[in-house]
Amino acid sequence: MKRLLSGIQPSGELHVGNYLGAIRNWVDLQDEYEAFYCVVDLHAMTVNSPAPESLGERTINMATALLACGLDPEKSTLFVQSHLTEHSELAWILNCVTPMGELYRMTQFKDKSSQHQQNINVGLFTYPVLQAADILLYQASAVPVGEDQVQHIELTREIARKFNARFKKVFTEPKAVLTRTGRIRGLDGQAKMSKTLNNQIPLLADEDAIHKLLRPAFTDPARLRRTDPGNPKVCNLFPLHQGFSPDDDIQRVDKECRKAEIGCVECKRLLGANMAETLAPIREKYHALGNDHVQGVLRDGAERARAVASKTLEKVRYGAKLLKV
Ligand code: TRP
Ligand code: SF4
Repeated sequence: MKRLLSGIQPSGELHVGNYLGAIRNWVDLQDEYEAFYCVVDLHAMTVNSPAPESLGERTINMATALLACGLDPEKSTLFVQSHLTEHSELAWILNCVTPMGELYRMTQFKDKSSQHQQNINVGLFTYPVLQAADILLYQASAVPVGEDQVQHIELTREIARKFNARFKKVFTEPKAVLTRTGRIRGLDGQAKMSKTLNNQIPLLADEDAIHKLLRPAFTDPARLRRTDPGNPKVCNLFPLHQGFSPDDDIQRVDKECRKAEIGCVECKRLLGANMAETLAPIREKYHALGNDHVQGVLRDGAERARAVASKTLEKVRYGAKLLKV
């Protein structure tokens, strides 16, 4: 079975954009690959989080949410990045084969350093090298990510080539596997759904909360009156229908919106009900999972991850001709 690795930052709270854009895909992929899923808490340290919870609390909440969405510890390995020293150790070694110029080019570095001008730290700069270590430690051939991470995966390939050429062929070059769902826009219709922009529907929202959030949501800006035909292609809620509604509802909305046969109020009610149906079992499972149980899953995951990561690191040390311990 081919190996796969992906990572997610413990940002505080998952929203339906993360679910459709990444997590649902992770759940499907665990049947096709030997999958490793990592909560990247060390990456989260590169910025000051506005969330009130500590990094540890955010980490366990994220792991709990992933399990509630259907990650199955019997099928895949779920673990926390900082529970293995191998990640930071390999990151250091890879720092030594990564050109500064490449890191300056990274779009995420440019974006984040303009968003966090008070805190442009070295970690933010070398973030993609730690990400490369996450991936290369597991010799993963596939890395499921969104469009915005493709540049980091390309860099990971380059870092792998540089190490292999300078020392010894140790690393497999990974490939990005793009999620089929495109970017899910926020309820304001302006930008991608995100917690910081406050335009999200939290994954754990109940039906009332979902309806309340959908009511004022931006739709097709050209549809001013109920009698104006709408265009599902431009409406930012239609991708949510595609993610959560059964096929006949999707087709019905697509057709009736264009002919002004369904109004946005009714369309949003239908969407809210469909979302609630998918999310209710996730919310229930989230609240049923105790911290002790999740800690146990993560401990077990770290052990399984270490079995693979430590072997790769051995080869790296040997390849780089470091003195034996
Ligand atoms: N940088 C990724 C993001 O912001 C998170 C991440 C860290 C990651 N390590 C990874 C993704 C390894 C894939 C593989 O979404
Ligand atoms: Fe969007 Fe639905 Fe309104 Fe059409 S009817 S514009 S799909 S909310």
